[in-house]
Amino acid sequence: MSKPLTIADLKILARRRVPKMFFDYADSGAWTESTYRANEDDFAKIKLRQRVLVDMTNRTLETTMIGEKAMMPVALAPTGMTGMQHADGEMLAAKAAEEFGVPFTLSTMSICSIEDVASVTSKPFWFQLYVMKDRGFVERLIGRAKAAKCSALVVTADLQILGQRHKDLRNGLSAPPKWTLKSFMQLATRPQWCLEMLGTKRRGFGNIVGHASNVSDLSSLGAWTAEQFDPKLSWDDIRWIKDLWGGKLIIKGILDEEDARAAADTGADAIIVSNHGGRQLDGAPSSISMLPKIIDAVGDRIEVHVDGGIRSGQDVLKAVALGARGTYIGRPFLYGLGAMGKDGVTTALNVIRNELDITMALCGKRDIQTVDRSILANVPF
Ligand code: GLV
Repeated sequence: MSKPLTIADLKILARRRVPKMFFDYADSGAWTESTYRANEDDFAKIKLRQRVLVDMTNRTLETTMIGEKAMMPVALAPTGMTGMQHADGEMLAAKAAEEFGVPFTLSTMSICSIEDVASVTSKPFWFQLYVMKDRGFVERLIGRAKAAKCSALVVTADLQILGQRHKDLRNGLSAPPKWTLKSFMQLATRPQWCLEMLGTKRRGFGNIVGHASNVSDLSSLGAWTAEQFDPKLSWDDIRWIKDLWGGKLIIKGILDEEDARAAADTGADAIIVSNHGGRQLDGAPSSISMLPKIIDAVGDRIEVHVDGGIRSGQDVLKAVALGARGTYIGRPFLYGLGAMGKDGVTTALNVIRNELDITMALCGKRDIQTVDRSILANVPF
């Protein structure tokens, strides 16, 4: 393929380079994947107003998310096992985000640890927290994020129990991969990936291995979440975390107006309207279809961000037009990373910036801060 021009191009390249179990892990939703598909499909239903003969010079996409400057309203989402898309994946993606000037969010379930990412970046990144039953472990994790000078904590509220993703079960997903005939066949056809992976020591869950005890299988995301994540997580715990952390707090996984009001009541700095990329409750509505209702409910009290289904700059523009202060990309940067390492993440960000910039101009706007619903020809939800 010649130079990748779209996120779909990067996806094709990633599929060729990344072993099936890890490509599938990124590219999967829960059960029938209907919510995963709806996230993308609903963006396509929104139409833009074409405007002509307006001054299109001196455009800017610059904005802030939770008060931090961003070169465009896009952050890298927390994604599990990023270091299995490419060796040292979280470190590479964090560096690409830093150079580009957008926030990077490190997942609790990352391969590279908080300390690894801090060692290769010079600006603060954000840390995403999963809450385990072992509150001592959670306190230590928050302490490590503070020590690494993370500037925001992103608490995920929609994964107390892992949604069933058929592909992961069929592939026997684990990090590092277990030596079965199936995984051997998947790895054998991706020699470059294997070579790069042999060149790093980071092949397990870096935030967990060596930091947690009493776990039966540290290589399995499924086993870890089932045994360790707290199914009793409540709004009181969010308040406990907020006090413990003492810094900027973002609550991720809000898809309901009532939950959005409860999140605003906690005094958090932002919420992310999200259904976890369709990976949790299959049958839930798309994120973008819920965004207007949630903005109406709490938009004057808390910053509202959105993730799920964003595959282009057009999608970012539509989300901003509907009131999102910021958006997150997960799969788009993972495809870039899997395809081409750090350069691939930069390519994904450039693709989205270019599409966002040109689309904004063709809608008659020069400053992302002035984009509102008036650029939309319809809002179908
Ligand atoms: C983890 O956050 C996952 O969705 O797999």
